[in-house]
Amino acid sequence: MNQRYMIFIIFSCGLNFVQSSKKPNFVLFMVDDLGMGDVGCFGNDTIHTPNIDSIARQGVKFSHHVIPAPLCSPSRAAFITGRHPVRSGMLGYGRLRMVPFLAATAGLPPNETTFAEVLKDVGYKTGLVGKWHMGLHCENRQDFCHHPLKQGFDFYYGLPLTNLRDCGEDATRSVITARIPQMTEILALSMVIVVVTLVAFTKIGLIQRRGFIFLLAVSFIIFATPVVLQKGLRRINCILMKNYDVVEQPVILENMTLRITQQSMQFLKSSQNEAFLLYVSFLKVHTALFSSSKFKGISKHGNYGDNVEEMDWSVGKILSTLEELGLKENTFVYLTSDNGGHLEEIASDGQREGGHNGIYRGGKAQVWEGGLRVPTVAMYPGVIPPSTEVMQPTSNMDIFPTIIKLANASLPSDRVI
Ligand SMILES: *[C@@H]1O[C@H](CO)[C@@H](O)[C@H](O)[C@H]1NC(C)=O
Ligand SMILES: *[C@@H]1O[C@H](CO)[C@@H](O)[C@H](O)[C@H]1NC(C)=O
Ligand SMILES: *[C@@H]1O[C@H](CO)[C@@H](O)[C@H](O)[C@H]1NC(C)=O
Ligand SMILES: *[C@@H]1O[C@H](CO)[C@@H](O)[C@H](O)[C@H]1NC(C)=O
Repeated sequence: MNQRYMIFIIFSCGLNFVQSSKKPNFVLFMVDDLGMGDVGCFGNDTIHTPNIDSIARQGVKFSHHVIPAPLCSPSRAAFITGRHPVRSGMLGYGRLRMVPFLAATAGLPPNETTFAEVLKDVGYKTGLVGKWHMGLHCENRQDFCHHPLKQGFDFYYGLPLTNLRDCGEDATRSVITARIPQMTEILALSMVIVVVTLVAFTKIGLIQRRGFIFLLAVSFIIFATPVVLQKGLRRINCILMKNYDVVEQPVILENMTLRITQQSMQFLKSSQNEAFLLYVSFLKVHTALFSSSKFKGISKHGNYGDNVEEMDWSVGKILSTLEELGLKENTFVYLTSDNGGHLEEIASDGQREGGHNGIYRGGKAQVWEGGLRVPTVAMYPGVIPPSTEVMQPTSNMDIFPTIIKLANASLPSDRVI
């Protein structure tokens, strides 16, 4: 019903695109962990998001837009396939609900059909810039079975995993030590106890010298592995890829938003004479928070606010490129978040590092309204009337059939959408 409603909104308001022989273009923005309370047009009068607000002013604000699961990987899988993530195996009982690290063999199954695949088949040029987080390999480091280029994208630039806390410059901020702050100390102490015990056992003749060395080596491996893995998380997981090549390892976050913006603008410029779909998937405003020097301290809301405002700046740059290229009138623009703000993200100095969900209860990873309802706007000049507000429930899965209908392509008929 939601999808019909959304298509209804778009189709009942003008139908100009049918008259034009040119197929519409698509620019889809996905913000990471942005909450309902973090955006100007959703009622925040102290955060500065003029570019997101301008999409709402020129188009529609969806005030009840929901996602089917309040976490990155399943929410993104639903978005890109138009299917509940449980259908693609991206969500299930008793399973980890996201791809935890790059070496995981999990990911969006290759036989799922993404909107990029459908559009590519009808002649669109498709690009993804930014975060993917739906797997990389199945069997070995060469197969790239879950890679965006295997899921319908012609161009890819970004992080195949996600921006982890460990990707930041501050080595003390780790997803692992956030849960077990004294991990290294506990492991070191355990190692000392094991050594003392082994020495004592050897002295009283309970074990021989060779047994002592063997047990010592085994314990060392057991206790050192978590430390090595934690220290290596950044190098192993925070990589930047361009198509199939690793171009930076570990990624330098500081100017990453600038580079996402530049790559997106470049994609638009090189695609201006054909029909295209550009999916811009920001690393912001997930932790590790990072800002380029121009944006440090500009907001009224600390580090988190600076991150929101730099992301909004990027949206503005990409939209003005569309305008400069004369493509704005024929482009469907959509901006959403993969889940609500992450309430538990607090810096070591007590500063909030996660988003705000306004009046809604709960946040990311929780099935309350604050986790499931996401700030969403869209525009399509001449088709969606300015300053429209849709209060009826809509979903990020509605975008799939909407895009396919607008591109005059056909929905996959061998599966439930
Ligand atoms: C506006 O957003 C900032 C940053 O997320 C937050 O600290 C503040 O509480 C929000 N204000 C309102 C009125 O929601
Ligand atoms: C994809 O393949 C899996 C494993 O063979 C199968 O269970 C699933 O139904 C397939 N999905 C689609 C959409 O064909
Ligand atoms: C981003 O920063 C890195 C390291 O400081 C630098 O080498 C690179 O040229 C910068 N990229 C851009 C586009 O500014
Ligand atoms: C849509 O596709 C059908 C065939 O699949 C074609 O007949 C029709 O002209 C197309 N319409 C537009 C607006 O491209």
